[in-house]
Amino acid sequence: MAEHERTGASSTDAVHAGADSRRPHHTLTPSIAQTATYTFEDTADLSRYMRGEDHDAEREEYGRYGNPTVREVERRVAALEGADDAVAFATGMAAVTTSILALTKAGDHVVLFRDCYRRTRQFVTQTLARFGVRHTLVGPASLDELEAAITPETRLCVGESPTNPYLYCTDLSALSRIAKSKGRVRTLVDSTFATPVNLRPREHGIDLVVHSATKYLSGHNDVLGGFVAGPTHLISLVRDLRSVLGANLDPHAAFLIGRGLKTLAVRVEKQNATALEVARMLEVHPAVERVFYPLLESHPSHSVAASQMRGAGGVVSFVVKGGRPAAGRMIDACRLATIAPSLGGVETLIEQPALMSYFELSDEELAQIGIDPALIRLSVGIEETRDVLADIEGALSAL
Ligand SMILES: Cc1ncc(COP(=O)(O)O)c(C=O)c1O
Repeated sequence: MAEHERTGASSTDAVHAGADSRRPHHTLTPSIAQTATYTFEDTADLSRYMRGEDHDAEREEYGRYGNPTVREVERRVAALEGADDAVAFATGMAAVTTSILALTKAGDHVVLFRDCYRRTRQFVTQTLARFGVRHTLVGPASLDELEAAITPETRLCVGESPTNPYLYCTDLSALSRIAKSKGRVRTLVDSTFATPVNLRPREHGIDLVVHSATKYLSGHNDVLGGFVAGPTHLISLVRDLRSVLGANLDPHAAFLIGRGLKTLAVRVEKQNATALEVARMLEVHPAVERVFYPLLESHPSHSVAASQMRGAGGVVSFVVKGGRPAAGRMIDACRLATIAPSLGGVETLIEQPALMSYFELSDEELAQIGIDPALIRLSVGIEETRDVLADIEGALSAL
């Protein structure tokens, strides 16, 4: 894809897209429709609605089937991703699992990149396997392995770009070309780390785009949520299954996500800039062994990231010299960066994957899956870049 085609989501859309033009009482901002159910004038009104003869296409019957506050943010996320439609969920994992379930059945085969979010991997390798859906795991960003893994039963390729924690980026145009060349193979990309500001997988031919809105989309570390965006025919399959499985986004959470979305572009642009500066500082720091940030030339995915992303997001991973204890000392010496899982919010967060996501593994087991015990994952917030830099540099000087 040529440089000028990497459009990224519009900040105007982040503020306005999907807004209901008929707000009660002429309020500027949306009301929270805190209701579990909806009313009908009389039985004739109910019968008209049930027969699909009601002219209000947005009218709902029951809270598990839809909510106007939620619908508004669904439309906004669809616009940001350049998709026909989107469905909202209570969490990112609800979006991932409901989407995968909607697209697979017993006897199907799924190809999954090994370095995807570990709960997604667990869902495909353990839960889906119990229902007769087979899978093959392929190496980070490896399209050769992916192509070789596709069988006549393959119906879905699941990827993420960038991935956690090493930030590998997959060439999404090539991924979608391979899947399309094999016939009935769909693609689903978890774009949580990229955000629509930096990358819009639909422009590369990807079928479904998933987000943990808990991260950048809401942006304030105060709400859980998830979305899947894509073409109408696939989104209606996912929406129908949401009505059955019931992992709906709560209207109050939808309001918070809608408010957070308004500042998505300004937040992500700030995070892109700070993370790049931190990555460059770390790359020449004597206490640091290795830095992983897709826009550094030293990153294995640099050329893919540089050609398909407008920025690489707010997460920087790095390995400090001195092993596991040194990483712990560095993290403990931070004053601004707070120890917590999650990423993408306005607060700078820091964590040591060996102590959190992989705490039950020995150093030998960590080596087998390629996680360095001295690896640190930093998610920069929107504080002053100089303050984030000073915090990380100050903490490194403690080593
Ligand atoms: C890439 C990615 N996808 C999905 C999820 C799951 O999202 P949630 O925690 O909102 O269920 C996460 C959470 O950490 C994630 O990092």
